[in-house]
Amino acid sequence: MAKKDIKWGELGFGYVKTDYRFVANFKDGKWDEGELITDENIVINECAGVLQYAQTCFEGLKAYTTEDGKIVCFRPDLNAQRMAESCERLKMPVFPVDKFVEAVEKVVAANKDFVPPYGSGATLYLRPYMFGSNAVIGVKPATEYQFRIFATPVGPYFKGGVKPLTLRISDLDRAAPMGTGHIKAGLNYAMSLYNIVDAHEQGFDENMYVDSATRTYIEETGGANIILVTKDKKVVTPKSNTILPSITRRSLMVVAKDYLGLEVEERPVKVSELGNFAECGLCGTAAVISPVGKVVDHGKEICFPAGMTEMGPVTKKLYDTLTGIQMGRLESPEGWIKVIE
Ligand code: PLP
Ligand code: COI
Repeated sequence: MAKKDIKWGELGFGYVKTDYRFVANFKDGKWDEGELITDENIVINECAGVLQYAQTCFEGLKAYTTEDGKIVCFRPDLNAQRMAESCERLKMPVFPVDKFVEAVEKVVAANKDFVPPYGSGATLYLRPYMFGSNAVIGVKPATEYQFRIFATPVGPYFKGGVKPLTLRISDLDRAAPMGTGHIKAGLNYAMSLYNIVDAHEQGFDENMYVDSATRTYIEETGGANIILVTKDKKVVTPKSNTILPSITRRSLMVVAKDYLGLEVEERPVKVSELGNFAECGLCGTAAVISPVGKVVDHGKEICFPAGMTEMGPVTKKLYDTLTGIQMGRLESPEGWIKVIE
């Protein structure tokens, strides 16, 4: 078998059909064994819970080719755990953590010719997801579900690679105080679509959401958490229970402290103090670390001193260290890297 004939360096963040996907079915109160299949299409009832009441959640993680040619995944157990939390909140059956990790391994191994080569700038993105598949017309949870994982090779999430982004402070909300902002429910993304299209039309790359209760604190963007760096190089990230607990952000806080010897702090961050920070970045599986150059708060421009041309120096160190761990150039903390045999 040989690598697929794909121009890896030209990939954006899009869907490319790969050879195999994993599917398991939940019926009569239990999951079946699950299997790899080749058909990328799904046939479900017109009244399926996912189609009528959006009963679905998902995850995102990546497989990488390391410097020495291995194929690895980054902390898949944390995706499994977070998906379990999403399922509990949406009254869906949990797919067991160990089975989730095994299924990830199977999908990556079966599609290894789609894992972009080391140094290509691309990775294999994995999308685990689950949905209510049987007919439900009253508002209630489905009784049958599918858990699936597909893979697609991807390049950078934001066009233009590492060019710093311009965000706007959003007037629309993504998460309510006791809502679903902390889980990865499809509904959180459906309701952000109007706002992302509007942001793009107004010339912004993304929306920076604020807490919907007081509109005082920054939260996250539609698809990534936020990290900030103070002028004396402390790494700060917003603390909120209405944002998604990003695996990238949690890993970066460890990297900042243990690899770079920086002070780290997770605390509520006011919109009004944004201008005090030296650097800002978005972090997530898809976003990796994407630098932010400017945030526009209703006409008032907050420009980070690191500028609009390149990543700030601390952001760059965080990026280099995290991707160094993922690509096998640096030793990883215990349990972060899962080698696919
Ligand atoms: N926040 C939101 C809303 C996201 O969709 C994502 C992407 O998964 C993240 C944050 C980043 O999370 P992670 O680092 O686990 O990919
Ligand atoms: C990810 O980073 O994996 C996500 O799910 C974010 C999404 C906006 C692509």
